[in-house]
Amino acid sequence: MKAVVYHGPRDIRVERVPDPMIEAPADVLVKITTTSICGSDLHMYEGRTGLEPGRVLGHENLGEIVETGTSVERLRVGDRVCVPFNIGCGYCGNCERGRTAFCLTMNPLGAGAAFGFDGLGPYNGGQAEYLRVPHGDFNCLELPRERALKENDYVMCADVFATGYHATELAGVRPGETVVVYGAGPVGLMATHSAIIKGAERVMTVDRHSDRLRLAEEIGAIPIDDRKAPPTEQVLDLTDGEGADRGCECVGYQAHDPDGVEHPNTTMNNLIGSVRATGTLGVVGMFVPRDPGALDEIAKRGEMLLDFGALWWKGQSMGTGRCNVKAYNRYLRDLIANDRARPSFVVSHELPLEEAEEAYRHFDARENGWTKVVLHP
Ligand SMILES: NC(=O)c1ccc[n+]([C@@H]2O[C@H](COP(=O)([O-])OP(=O)(O)OC[C@H]3O[C@@H](n4cnc5c(N)ncnc54)[C@H](O)[C@@H]3O)[C@@H](O)[C@H]2O)c1
Ligand SMILES: [Zn+2]
Ligand SMILES: [Zn+2]
Repeated sequence: MKAVVYHGPRDIRVERVPDPMIEAPADVLVKITTTSICGSDLHMYEGRTGLEPGRVLGHENLGEIVETGTSVERLRVGDRVCVPFNIGCGYCGNCERGRTAFCLTMNPLGAGAAFGFDGLGPYNGGQAEYLRVPHGDFNCLELPRERALKENDYVMCADVFATGYHATELAGVRPGETVVVYGAGPVGLMATHSAIIKGAERVMTVDRHSDRLRLAEEIGAIPIDDRKAPPTEQVLDLTDGEGADRGCECVGYQAHDPDGVEHPNTTMNNLIGSVRATGTLGVVGMFVPRDPGALDEIAKRGEMLLDFGALWWKGQSMGTGRCNVKAYNRYLRDLIANDRARPSFVVSHELPLEEAEEAYRHFDARENGWTKVVLHP
C-alpha cells in the first residue's frame, strides 16, 4: 500500500510499504478514507523527537472496516469508524478510569500508546491506505451510516476536536466564564470552539498568524495578536485587570516569539500572567521530557523557567497531558451529527495522499491559509 513514511528531519516520502495485517484476535483493519496532518506530526517532521526512520505517520484517522480479528464482536466489515489517536487496551487501571491516553499495557516503554508517534509504542500511523487498529471493539468510534457525509468534521474527533475540548475540561470552563487560549492552530481553534459551545462569556485567542486569528474571530472569539502588544496586557485590559477565569495552552514546547525564536516557557508564563487568581489552566500543547534539538541546556533536559511563584501566589491550579480521546469522542460526534459543532471550519486543504510531501512543507511553514490539511488516500 501507499503510506507517508518518515525518513529524517523534513524528509517524509509517500512510498509503498507492506500492507498491515491482522496480528491479534482483537485487531481490525481499517481502509482509510480521511486522515489529517497534526501539529504533533510537525514536531516529528522537524526532527524534534526521536522518531526512527521507516515509521508510517498519521494519528488522525477515519475509514471503513475491511477485516476483523476472530475475537471482534461489535464491529462489522463495512462499518465507518473514527479512530482515536491513542491506543488503549480497555482493561488496565488507567483505561478503566477513562485515561486511555495513559494505557498501561499497550506501550512497552511506559504509559500511553498512539499511532505513528515517537515514544508511544511501535505502531504505524494511518497516513496510508490501511491501518491496523489493536483492540478494535474498544478503540473505534462508530460513525453514522451515510458515507462521506461530514467526514472532515468527524475526522477531527480522532484528535484535535477532542484535544481542544480536553483543554477546556482541564481548565474547568463553565458557562459565563472568560477564557484565554494560547495558540490558534487547529488545537487552539478547537479549544476556542469548545469553550464557546460550553457557553463561555468571552474567549480570547492568542496567536500572530492573521489567517488563524481570523478563523477564531469568525467563530466568535476575540482575536489577540501578540505582535501588537504583550498578550498578558491585552487580556488584562479586556478583563478589568483581573485576568481570564480559565486558560488553555495549545502551543507546546516549540512556542516562539513573533520573530520565530523558541522560548518553551513563554506560553506557560503568559498563561499564568493572564489568568486570574484561583483560575485554572489546561495545558494540552505538547511538552517533552528531553529535547536534544532545543536551543539551550535547560530546554534540552525538558525543563523550563516557570513563574511558579506567581502561579502559587495566585492559587492557580493546572491540568496537563495528552487527551483521553475516548472520554469525549462519542459526545463530540453527536454534536457534529446534530449540527451543534462544525470543527471542519479549520480545514483549509483537502488533498490526495500523494501530495503529502508538499502538504507537510506548507503546513510546517505555517504558510498563510494552511490551517489544517486533510488527506484522502
Ligand atoms: N495533548 C494532546 O493530546 C495533543 C493532541 C494534539 C496536539 N497536541 C499539541 O498541541 C500543540 C498545537 O497543535 P496544533 O495542531 O494546533 O499545532 P500548530 O503548530 O499548527 O499550532 C500552534 C500555533 O501556536 C502558535 N504559537 C507559537 N508560539 C506562540 C506563542 N508564543 N503565543 C501564541 N501562539 C503561539 C503558532 O503560531 C501556531 O499557530 C502541539 O504542541 C501539538 O503537539 C497535543
Ligand atoms: Zn494530532
Ligand atoms: Zn489500557
